Amino acid sequence: MSEDNENKVLSDHAQDEAEEQMELTLRPQTLDDYIGQEKVKGKLRVYIEAAREREEALDHVLLYGPPGLGKTTLAMVIAHEMHVNIKTTSGPAIEKPGDLVALLNELQPGDVLFIDEIHRLPKVVEEMLYSAMEDYYIDIVVGEGPTAHPVHFPLPPFTLIGATTRAGMLSAPLRDRFGIVEHMNYYNQDELKQIIFRSAKIFNSKIEEAGAHELALRSRGTPRIANRLLKRVRDFAQVAKKPSIDSATVKQALDLLQVDSHGLDEVDRKMLLTMINYYHGGPVGLKTIAANIGEETSTIEEMYEPYLLQIGFISRTPRGRMVTPAAYAHLGINYPDSKGE
Ligand SMILES: Nc1ncnc2c1ncn2[C@@H]1O[C@H](COP(=O)(O)OP(=O)(O)OP(=O)(O)O)[C@@H](O)[C@H]1O
Ligand SMILES: [Mg+2]
Repeated sequence: MSEDNENKVLSDHAQDEAEEQMELTLRPQTLDDYIGQEKVKGKLRVYIEAAREREEALDHVLLYGPPGLGKTTLAMVIAHEMHVNIKTTSGPAIEKPGDLVALLNELQPGDVLFIDEIHRLPKVVEEMLYSAMEDYYIDIVVGEGPTAHPVHFPLPPFTLIGATTRAGMLSAPLRDRFGIVEHMNYYNQDELKQIIFRSAKIFNSKIEEAGAHELALRSRGTPRIANRLLKRVRDFAQVAKKPSIDSATVKQALDLLQVDSHGLDEVDRKMLLTMINYYHGGPVGLKTIAANIGEETSTIEEMYEPYLLQIGFISRTPRGRMVTPAAYAHLGINYPDSKGE
């Protein structure tokens, strides 16, 4: 590797670490600091208090919903509130049963094992989890050939927290072993504003009420996006020497970033326009849309479609997805008379 390249890798690495550090400071640590998801929090408060009173591990928790809504953050908050350690991993990272044994082996009684993207666990690992979750043991085969023998491996009581963007991809036996199953919802404008003000404070930047409002509108109900856009907007305000982030700066910056007044980005628009221009607004199948705009079907299903459904820009029908009149209006395209309405 040339020295230049090496330096680049090093600086990329440093940047990753800086981002990671920022991410850590942005993450709320307690349920009180965790903004929004009120219903989920209300229930978790009860379960956590009850488990703590009984001095038991919290029941296993499955969190599902679109990316960036705070599943990982909530898992950490739960561990914090339970006063236990958390070990974090992800489905694809646990390649073989031995990896799972190694993880479980490190747990203290009551600890949390957090598995992100739990729908991507290899089948053999998933099957080992069944007894681990239900009765706190695993049976493994040690050795090979004639010396192979089964070993019964007792585990401390622990809490598995699984996160997934696709609850539908989880097998029924796995899903059924979670006592607590919670769906994460998009955040409303008010909650997003609170998150933006909180993050701005952590960044040491000032943001005006109207600026936060405009930013919240364009964040697709998603804290991760709100934080990401806030960082960019902060750069624009700084370079323009504004003492605080106002709504004009937000608008100007986000227009440049091609994030529109509803938070739609280039991919959303491409998707809607493809459906309108080539398929008369639908119905059209997800695979066809994906192929047309050069994205993975799963990316559309997990990242783009849920928000467009949520704001009523597309609808699902048995024959495929349709663009709604509201989306036509937003894009400034006449809704064809032939479609009725
Ligand atoms: N309720 C919240 N209050 C304040 N900040 C939040 C909240 N939820 C999420 N965030 C912030 O949003 C960012 C994304 O959250 P997180 O990584 O937990 O999302 P996620 O649901 O795990 O996403 P993914 O599915 O992509 O793993 C974090 O930087 C976190 O600080
Ligand atoms: Mg996560």
